[in-house]
Order: sequence, then C-alpha cells, then structure tokens
Amino acid sequence: MAKAEALPANPPEPLASADDGKWAAELFGQAQDILRGNDKNGHYTVPAAGMYPHQWLWDSCFVAIGLRQYDVKRAQAEITSLFRGQWSNGMLPNMIFNDDGKHRRDRNLWRSWVSPFAPNKVSTSGITQPPLVAEAVVKIGQKMTKAERRTWYQKNFSQLVKYHQWLYADRDPHGEGLVLLIHPWETGQDNTPPWISELHSHQLTWWIRAAQKLRLEPLINFFRRDIQYVPPEQRLGAIDALALYSVQHRLRRKAYAIDAVLEHSLLAIEDVGFNAIFIRANQQLQTIAKEIGRQLPDGLKARMAQTEAAFEQLWDDHDKLYYSRNFVTHTPIKLPTIASLLALYAGSVSPERAKLLVKQLTAATKFGTPFPVPSVPMDSDWFHEFGYWQGPTWINTNWLLVDGLRRYGYQDQADAIAKSCLDLVRQSGFCEYFSPLSGAPAGIANFSWTAALTIDLLKS
Ligand code: GLC
Repeated sequence: MAKAEALPANPPEPLASADDGKWAAELFGQAQDILRGNDKNGHYTVPAAGMYPHQWLWDSCFVAIGLRQYDVKRAQAEITSLFRGQWSNGMLPNMIFNDDGKHRRDRNLWRSWVSPFAPNKVSTSGITQPPLVAEAVVKIGQKMTKAERRTWYQKNFSQLVKYHQWLYADRDPHGEGLVLLIHPWETGQDNTPPWISELHSHQLTWWIRAAQKLRLEPLINFFRRDIQYVPPEQRLGAIDALALYSVQHRLRRKAYAIDAVLEHSLLAIEDVGFNAIFIRANQQLQTIAKEIGRQLPDGLKARMAQTEAAFEQLWDDHDKLYYSRNFVTHTPIKLPTIASLLALYAGSVSPERAKLLVKQLTAATKFGTPFPVPSVPMDSDWFHEFGYWQGPTWINTNWLLVDGLRRYGYQDQADAIAKSCLDLVRQSGFCEYFSPLSGAPAGIANFSWTAALTIDLLKS
C-alpha cells in the first residue's frame, strides 16, 4: 500500500512575524493546496490521501465551511455529494465508499446492501456521524446573494428534514428528546474515554478476551490500515480496535435495524457532544425553513424543543459539566472530554451554565493547556498527550467552541482560541491532531479539515 506523505520530522518554522500580514496569505495558500490535493474530481474531498480514501460526513461539512470562503460552488458540491449516500429512511452515513477496485474490502466490511434502506448506486457504512450538515448549508448560504441562498436552501430542505426526522424516529425510540448512538465512530471522536470505558464494560466478548490472553495483538494489527500510516502509540490499541470491529460486525448482522440492534445491548449512549451538535443543527434547520417560508413538519418542531430541555438532564452539578449517559440504564458516564463543553456550541444552555463551562475551558489543570483546547482535560486519568482522542488538540472541536463562544458573547476567549489554532498550524503544519502540551504534530499529515478550518478561522 502506498504511504501518504509522512509528517515532517522538523515541523516548518513559523511564517513571517504575525504583524506583517503576509503569513496569513501564505497559510491560506498552503491550506488551499492541501484541499486541492485531497479533492476527488471536484465532487468531494477525502480527509487524507491513503489513510482515509472515502467521503466522511462531518469531515465534508468542515471542508465545505472552509471552501465557502473562496469557492462557493465547490463548497456546494461537497454537500451535494453527501446526499448521494442518504438512505431512504433518511439516514446520512458517516462514510460513502470510494467505488474503485482497491476498496472492496471496506465496502464488504459494512455491506450496506443488507439493509433495504441503503442506496443502490453507492455503498456506505450503516451508521451516522455528528449532524453538521444544516450548519454547513447555512454557512455556505451566508456567502450568497439572497436569491441564490433561497435556491440553495430550497434544494437541501427536504433532505435535511428527512435526516433530522430519522434521528428522532430511529435514535430516540422512547421519545426522551435525546438521541442515542450505537457505535463510537458516530461521535466522530472514535476513541473517546466515555465510549471506550463503556466498550470495556459491555463489549469485551469471550473471543476478544481470548485474543487478549493469547497476545494476538500483532496479528490483529496486521490487518489495520491506520497503523501503516501513523505510529501505533498515536492510535487505539489492538484490543480496542477488535472490540470496535465486533460492534460493527454485530450491527451488520442486525442489518442496521435499530430495534434488533438495541435488543440485548447495553452499548447505546446518549452522547453529549452529538446531542449538542444536533441542537445547533435543529436551530439552523429552522433558520433555513424561515428564510424560504417553509414550515417544519408537525411533530418535528416539538421534538426539537424537547431536545433542548432534555439536554439539561446531562448536567452534573457537582462537576459543573455535561456528561453522556447510558441510554438503557440512564447512568451518567462521568468522564470529562471536550464533548462536555460543546453545550457552548449548542447555544441553548443558560448564560450561567455557559459561564461555568468557560471557567473549565480556561483552568490550567483542566482544558487550559498551552496549546488549544485538548480532547480530554489534563487532570483526567485518561489524559495522554498523543492518545487518539484521549488528550490531543483537534482543530475541528476547537472551531466548534470558537463558533459557540462568539454567539455567547465571549469574544476575547473565542479570539484567543482561534489565534492559538492558527499559531499551532503555522508551527506544526496541517496535521490531523497535535500535542496540547508542546504543539508537536501527530496523526496523518495534510489533513483536510485542519486546512479548511484554518481558512475559515483566518477569514472569520
Ligand atoms: C477518524 C476520526 C473521525 C473522522 C475520520 C475521517 O475516524 O475520529 O472523526 O471523521 O477519521 O477523518
């Protein structure tokens, strides 16, 4: 397998001094080059060549948010190509597979065709990812004339409504107002501590424990694509990878039908980050409906309001954070991550609660690391500078915080995070993630959303 470009041993020197303005133009140009390099025939952008050869749902949303700053048409194409994968029940899958001969194994792993709802023309996964599409549609619309925007919103409206309806119909079976997830990949933060801890409690089947006992990790790793590109210590361990595979395999066996999936399973989580993003997506769907003079279907509006209220059940007054909880037992999973702060992005929580979250964001022992906000706070037992989604800084989650902080009126804090993200990329390049302690690059190089959101942060 051809290797993608490795990370530079010596990260590039910061560009010219911050006050001469040239560095910004240079950084913008470099980011554009990366997006161009990862572009698939002008239709969509892969996250990174080699390691991520397909179209991913929230990646494409972030990419479109960056593209809109210099090529609105191309940004529109990025979103339009996501709807190729929409299932007839409304689901948007987290992956639409590249259909070339090289990637048959990935398509066969998921076999989307086992579900009667899967599209015929493309193969996809059978799970979703954070619902950022409405946000991307609105952000692209902001760069258009009123007439263009109306046409653009009209074009996406019914598909978006269908997606949000599916989230309630399939993923909120008891009408609680919070949607549940069935695979850690749906969070977009694959290896995040609350999910890995639940995975260890509910998914280490006898055969996974046997593999562990027999020390089969090298054999398992032989079949993994990610560690052919990135050092194993920056990715999840072999046993966790096997557990994720076993969850995925079970979903496929159940043909991705939610009733069958939920039967006899405790691995169903009302994820705090996903629900926060969903709240914002609902608000943006309402923005779209209003602008084009359309009504949201009966019922959907009421469910949306219910979600904002139900989200407050995730608040922990002792820790002053929001936590995910297990859907079946309703037990909170008290492991703080950056998802615990995404209520700031949701925008629905009270100014008092937002203030408490901002306090956590800046506390040096918690999320106030020398480099932008880490995926896990420093005082957590799970914190590991390079652990995949267990410590490193990601530009996308920081972008969400910047966007939310601005709406809550925390302009200085938002500007500080945005500047710190840009300094980080200037210092270490457009990699997938970074050490929050030293800023050192990690993961794969030339990562699309790092490039796209750099552009957006430069321009916003
Ligand atoms: C990893 C990330 C996920 C992302 C995907 C493609 O799985 O955890 O958020 O969408 O890679 O970049």
